[in-house]
Amino acid sequence: MTYVIDGMNTPIAVVGDAMFAGSMGGGMVSFSEALKNNREKILTLSDQTVLCPGHGPLTTVGQEKVHNPFFPEFK
Ligand SMILES: [Fe+2]
Repeated sequence: MTYVIDGMNTPIAVVGDAMFAGSMGGGMVSFSEALKNNREKILTLSDQTVLCPGHGPLTTVGQEKVHNPFFPEFK
């Protein structure tokens, strides 16, 4: 589950354990569904969206499109 907060200068998505800076969450039920979910629901947010993972540093959608090895199709 991800909470998207807009209405501020910079949109924020609290992604919890769905994904991390440069990495990927485990997908409690299905890893392939977790990848699909992140591709379709998180990485389609604007590049400026700040992602707040449950572990590790903050990142942005734009940074993950360039640097996250689990999603090479966005490079
Ligand atoms: Fe966690």
